[in-house]
Amino acid sequence: MGRVRILVAGGAGYIGSHTVLSLLEAGHQVVVADDFSNARPAVLDRLGELAGRPVPCVEVDLTDPGRTDAVVAEHRPEAVIHCAGLKAVGESTDAPLRYYRTNLDATFSLLEAMRRHGVDRFVFSSSATVYGDHAPVPYLETHTPLAAANPYGRTKVMIEQVLTDHAAATPGLRVALLRYFNPVGAHPSGRIGEDPQGVPTNLMPFVAQVAVGRRERLAVFGDDYDTPDGTCLRDYVHVVDLAEGHVAAVEHLDVQATPVRAFNLGGGRGTSVRELFDAFCAVVGRELPHEVVGRRSGDLPAYWADTTRAADELGWRARRSLEDMVADVWRWQSQNPDGYPA
Ligand code: UD1
Repeated sequence: MGRVRILVAGGAGYIGSHTVLSLLEAGHQVVVADDFSNARPAVLDRLGELAGRPVPCVEVDLTDPGRTDAVVAEHRPEAVIHCAGLKAVGESTDAPLRYYRTNLDATFSLLEAMRRHGVDRFVFSSSATVYGDHAPVPYLETHTPLAAANPYGRTKVMIEQVLTDHAAATPGLRVALLRYFNPVGAHPSGRIGEDPQGVPTNLMPFVAQVAVGRRERLAVFGDDYDTPDGTCLRDYVHVVDLAEGHVAAVEHLDVQATPVRAFNLGGGRGTSVRELFDAFCAVVGRELPHEVVGRRSGDLPAYWADTTRAADELGWRARRSLEDMVADVWRWQSQNPDGYPA
């Protein structure tokens, strides 16, 4: 496939920014659309520096259909990668309407604008959370029914359904549903990475902030699970591998086996909280403060991806190791202890 003009919704965020860079490296043309509600404008400068040319960006609230239409009309993308959305599980339980409205409305605006302007390729940021609490491990894309355990996860299930129904009614539309497992890591330059606002809820950014002294100690949520070391197993995937998964998915859309297709993007193996923590301590060169506390409600003991479909159909697999993930996070965090400049 030749050069494609791609609109990356949420392209200033953690996953979006790494995806933008991989798309540019693959020779595609990119426009970022972001409302900067959970991203810093400085990321665009860093992307420009890494790409060797400025990265065009429109500041836009994608829940506004009129403004979204204007962006699509002006930039005329041939594909849309939709990584924009609210993603904090706890917050989604406290403010479900905000989550449903934001995540669904942004998707509706994009799909309507695409229809009006004849754009028929769409890649969506979904999540392993759609498999819910009862799917057999490793998770397979063919599993049904999808059933997430919280409002954030249910926005992903609902949007997957919306896309399936919309594609059934829209000949020519091609949709890839990328089900991310646990994205971690940073670009090896240390110039872009994850910069959560407030106290991080995810493991890796929390450990990274302990390492630079922004947090006192890691609370390990339970070591009495039925797993080899008693802590939970997750499928961590390096964000640059994940970004390359988006490139593979967008380039594969035209020959995709079905108009709407889900792909697990994970490493295909479980890593425990303790293993990840120990790997981080090793790269920092000292034992970081931590304590074991009670389980976090809603956590599953262990899950990881079956990655056969992404390998067979997209020719994609996660290549970067746990050591790469922690080394790259440490480089990013130690060079940018407070994240991006305000
Ligand atoms: C979480 C969300 C999931 C979302 C994903 C991506 C929950 C229940 N799940 O996945 O829906 O798609 O983030 O953002 O919130 N841990 C600690 N101490 C901490 C933080 C985490 O021990 O301070 C442990 C957790 O118990 C878990 C593992 O680390 O076993 C990974 O946690 P986290 O990074 O929050 O990801 P998930 O819970 O897998």
